This record gives sequence, structure tokens and C-alpha cells, in this order.
Amino acid sequence: MKDYKALAEHYAESLSSLYDREESKQLFLMAYSFVTKKKAIQFVLENKQEVNEEAYQQFVYILDGLQAGRPIQHIIGEADFFGLRFDVNEHTLIPRPETEELADWIISAHKLEKELSILDVGTGSGCIAITLAKHLPSARVDAIDISADAIAVARKNATKLNVDVNFIEADILEWDLFMEQSQQYDIIVSNPPYITPKEQGHMHANVLQYEPHNALFVEEHNPLIFYATTVELAKQHLKDRGAIYFEINQYLSGQTIDLIRKKGFENIVLRKDLNDVERMICAKMGF
Ligand SMILES: C[S@@+](CC[C@H](N)C(=O)[O-])C[C@H]1O[C@@H](n2cnc3c(N)ncnc32)[C@H](O)[C@@H]1O
Repeated sequence: MKDYKALAEHYAESLSSLYDREESKQLFLMAYSFVTKKKAIQFVLENKQEVNEEAYQQFVYILDGLQAGRPIQHIIGEADFFGLRFDVNEHTLIPRPETEELADWIISAHKLEKELSILDVGTGSGCIAITLAKHLPSARVDAIDISADAIAVARKNATKLNVDVNFIEADILEWDLFMEQSQQYDIIVSNPPYITPKEQGHMHANVLQYEPHNALFVEEHNPLIFYATTVELAKQHLKDRGAIYFEINQYLSGQTIDLIRKKGFENIVLRKDLNDVERMICAKMGF
């Protein structure tokens, strides 16, 4: 029987054609944390312990999936986001670290405000909506997604994480058909699909193969359709001093800002993410 250290080594060797050593180590630690239900740091203290047969079989199952190119979050059915654990599956985008930065921006900017109302457009696993509901407890949060399967996962996540979010299955491109005229929000946030078909060539094969294409891609000829639509919605449903927050395509930051400005928003702030990439925008009507 192997100990955990030998198993970590076995992961690194078996995955060397797909991942570098550091990535393999991170994947092993995620598997370790999932199988043992312990924090990854515990591995350092217990790596000489023997792995029991049941746990070993789970490690083998996860490794088989990784060797087939599946993202580990799909194999174990979970992903961490902002210190919370979300269920994910093939119908939901795996939450990304840059989106955590967007959530962090909103929480820092609005944590002292009372009675916020928030709309999350394209909620997926519910990671943004649920994180905001958790960290801005006085907020009332609505969240929209076109995918019934994604909404089912998001609802389960909200229940598991003990927050109240109103999930709506709807096509945001038809917002004028279902939004109540009187509905007004302090914050409208969206991480919409924004990758153009031309950019597919730069993407990891496992993202292309396993993540939902309706969460990722837009048409080449109209890549900002979700931004244009959400800004139109905001013009009618954002309170006077409200703000919109977007995660954006780094290659289209200038065009995205132009679009938002042309639609009447004046106070626009562009932020880079931890990788120094232009990744998010906050816009308000007035200063
Ligand atoms: C990039 S994912 C973001 C998911 C999640 N908010 C996150 O940050 O991880 C975009 C989401 O928009 C949803 N979506 C795509 N087209 C839509 C539409 N027409 N109306 C509403 N949601 C849509 C997808 O199903 C997907 O869940």
C-alpha cells in the first residue's frame, strides 16, 4: 500500500505529459482534500501515512479522469470560489480566480451600504450571486441564466451555502419581455460569455472539450452582445446612483468601454486582474 507522498509522486509522473510539476501538485492536493475531507495543508503533516484501500480507489478514479483531460472540478463535482465550495458540473462554468476578484471589488465597494438590490446576469453555478449574498447580508439578490441545468446547480449551491437568492431561468437577450417595469437595482453584475471563435486556438483542450460552450462563446461578428444588452437593461433598471460591474474580454477592453460610454455611462473604471490583464469594469451613470 502506498503512502500519500508516494501517491503524490505517482500523480506527478502520470500527469507529466499534460501538466507541469506545480500544476500536478495542485491537482493532487485538490484530490487529497476531496478524498480525505481535510485541508490541503494537512498533507505536509501526514504524507507518510498509508492510504487505505477505499481512499486509494478514489485517488485512482480521479487520476484516470485527469489523464483523460477532464478538469478536476468536474471529476470531483466541486470548485472553490471566494472561500466557499460550489457544486459544479458540465452545465456550469468552473468559477475562475479572476471572477473572485470581481466579487471582491463589489464587496469592498458596497459593504457599508444597507438594503442593496443586486442582479447577476449569467449566473452559472451561482458563484457571484451567492458570494455577494453571503458577504453583503442585507442584499436582495436576483440571478438569471438561460440554462435550466445551470439554474438547478445554482439553486442547490444556495441551499447548501445557506443563502437566499432568487434564481430566474430566462434569456437575457429578451429581458424586456420578463423584467418587471418597476424593478430597480443598486448593482447589476455580469460575467457573460465573451470568447470569440478566433480565440479558441489559445485555449486549453480540456476547457474546449468539457466546459459548456454557451457559457464561453459569442459570435465573431457580435462579441459584445451581452454587454450591449445588459447596459440597455441597466438604463431602465439601475437606480440613479447604481453601478454595473462586468468581467470583460481582455482583447476587447477598449471597445467595451466605448460601448458603455456611448450608452450614456460616464464614470467608467477599468481594472486589471492579478495576472496584470485588463479584466473588469465598473460603470456608473453620474460621478
Ligand atoms: C461565463 S459564464 C459565467 C458563469 C458564472 N457567473 C461565473 O462567473 O462563473 C456565462 C453564463 O451565461 C449564461 N448565458 C449564456 N447565454 C445566456 C442568455 N442568453 N441569457 C442568460 N444567460 C446566458 C451561461 O449559461 C453561463 O452560465
